[in-house]
Amino acid sequence: MASVRDVSQPDDIDQITEERFRLALGNFATGVTIITSTDDGEPVGMSASSFTSVSLDPPLVSFCAALTSTTYPRISASERFCVNVLSEFQEDIARGFAQRDVERFANVPFNDSPLGSPVLSGVVAWIDCSIEAEHRAGDHLIVVGRVRALHVEFQRLPLLYFRGQFATELPISRDIDTWATE
Ligand SMILES: Cc1cc2nc3c(=O)[nH]c(=O)nc-3n(C[C@H](O)[C@H](O)[C@H](O)COP(=O)(O)O)c2cc1C
Repeated sequence: MASVRDVSQPDDIDQITEERFRLALGNFATGVTIITSTDDGEPVGMSASSFTSVSLDPPLVSFCAALTSTTYPRISASERFCVNVLSEFQEDIARGFAQRDVERFANVPFNDSPLGSPVLSGVVAWIDCSIEAEHRAGDHLIVVGRVRALHVEFQRLPLLYFRGQFATELPISRDIDTWATE
């Protein structure tokens, strides 16, 4: 049994199970992005919360792609991607772009970014990148993008992701039982 109380106790390195790793790291609140590109003219995309800024000069960003992802190799082949920062009204898109065997772009209008990747309607911001580097790191690839164009819609607010749940405002639930697992 893993509980919040358990996670509050320091762990020895050999006690860090996958579950406890997820429980602890889920405390770093993030936004949610959809990483998009095209493959043979077909739009492709995947949800990613691992997006972060890396460098100002030159302008670099990164996200991590699981080695098991079937979408990332298609993005990699295009040598570019667009980061779509989801708004508070786009939780359904965050869920949809993490599902396999669904038409992810159905009912999701989009335009083309300057580099030709999908920009989803209603996002808070988009960041258009060429792929600068891919670094293998454990069971993921760290993908570094060189920013080529970007745009922000300042009147929109972001979708948040914290402790494995989506949120649209802070404070998020103060009921720790909604997070603690059996
Ligand atoms: C909120 C959220 C954040 C996610 N963040 C990442 C991520 O940073 N990296 C990643 O590889 N997968 C992430 N995923 C999972 C992928 O979206 C999903 O597993 C993947 O798209 C599976 O389909 P694929 O085989 O088409 O890639 C996330 C899913 C959700 C719902």
